[in-house]
Amino acid sequence: MLKAIAPLAALAPAPLLVAACATTPEPAPPPPPSFVEAACGGCHAVEPPFLSPNPNAPSFESVANRPGVTKATIRAWLINAHNYPEQMDFDLTRDRVEEVSTYMITLRRRDYVPMP
Ligand code: HEC
Repeated sequence: MLKAIAPLAALAPAPLLVAACATTPEPAPPPPPSFVEAACGGCHAVEPPFLSPNPNAPSFESVANRPGVTKATIRAWLINAHNYPEQMDFDLTRDRVEEVSTYMITLRRRDYVPMP
């Protein structure tokens, strides 16, 4: 069976040039919505310190900080449920997709340093 996982960044538009302000640290992300915590938090690290309960599941922070990821690419990936890895055996309604992508993109940071 062919089961390809589309790269999250595939639909990303050309990166916007945003002037980085090196001196102001970014504020901490908001806490995750309870749906995200309940539905995704069993496998994924959805909030600091971003250590996934399931080591195969990337932390939401690392997903959000991949090059080229935007809210639109996250949304597109989540809507395409047939791209999901086998472990993620569920469908999300459009409202849930909106909720997850809105939260996930708050984890994208200019000063992101990937974990070793
Ligand atoms: C039962 C465990 C499990 C649950 C629950 C789960 N995931 Fe995952 N998810 C995984 C695993 C494992 C991977 C990595 C699969 C791989 O890399 O092949 C993954 C990968 C991902 C990815 C990254 C895809 C990529 O391009 O690498 C995203 C985004 C994601 N999950 C979102 C979610 C969201 C949103 C939820 C909750 C609505 C959720 N997951 C719930 C196990 C889970």
